[in-house]
Amino acid sequence: MCPLCGGSGWRQVIGSANQQVTRCNCFVSAQVNSLLAASDIPARYAACTFSNYKTESNPALAVARITLEKWANQYPLDRTGLLLIGPSGVGKTHLAVAALKELTTKGVHARFCDYRELLKQIQNSYNPSVQATELEVLRPVFEAEVLLLDDLGAVKPSEWVWDTVSLVLNARYNANLTTIITTNFMDGPSAAVDSARRANREETLGDRIGERMRSRLFEMCRLVQVQGRDYRPNFRAANLR
Ligand SMILES: Nc1ncnc2c1ncn2[C@@H]1O[C@H](COP(=O)(O)OP(=O)(O)O)[C@@H](O)[C@H]1O
Ligand SMILES: [Mg+2]
Ligand SMILES: [Zn+2]
Repeated sequence: MCPLCGGSGWRQVIGSANQQVTRCNCFVSAQVNSLLAASDIPARYAACTFSNYKTESNPALAVARITLEKWANQYPLDRTGLLLIGPSGVGKTHLAVAALKELTTKGVHARFCDYRELLKQIQNSYNPSVQATELEVLRPVFEAEVLLLDDLGAVKPSEWVWDTVSLVLNARYNANLTTIITTNFMDGPSAAVDSARRANREETLGDRIGERMRSRLFEMCRLVQVQGRDYRPNFRAANLR
């Protein structure tokens, strides 16, 4: 039992004239812990913070970190989301998770969602032997005050994938909810509207999620470039050769 409040969750404000009370620290930290537990941040990223994100070697990463840190500190003054674009392994998910954790300490209901996993779960829900319905899978994604949609575009595009991305992004857009997105795909129009460059070019965000959702993203999010080398040691070693 908490020695400060005896378990009530309230304590008297020291020196207050009219026995003013405030939330005890124990209540606040219990609330943060339950928000963190509900945030679904994968164990692999549980320790990611702004302070353990290394930027010495790369000013571009320092700018990205400062941008996310400021954004998390000022939320909810500006509810515009963030779109983190950069190659694999530069720490996009690390930074986005750090922001998510910062928000939970402010009492925000924030949630991690892996794009590939989400699409898999939705597809599973069509199987009659699976208990969860499509709506049950989607409800947390529709309702989270702040959603991190991680690795957008990681699933090979199809009509169904495009429709599903539209469903998710439009729901959040219409409800005016904040979304943080990370993606390995560089920004650019889909081949359908970029016929001049269609031949042997790298796939773009437009190709992966469709042109309509690409422009919707830019209404929902501010672009943050995360440009650097793959941080993971085995990849760095491979780059030396
Ligand atoms: N600048 C960095 N400082 C510390 N750790 C980093 C940094 N960049 C990446 N990492 C770590 O490397 C791993 C891969 O990063 P991740 O965020 O998954 O990259 P991305 O999402 O861009 O593919 C993670 O364990 C992450 O914590
Ligand atoms: Mg990632
Ligand atoms: Zn207490």
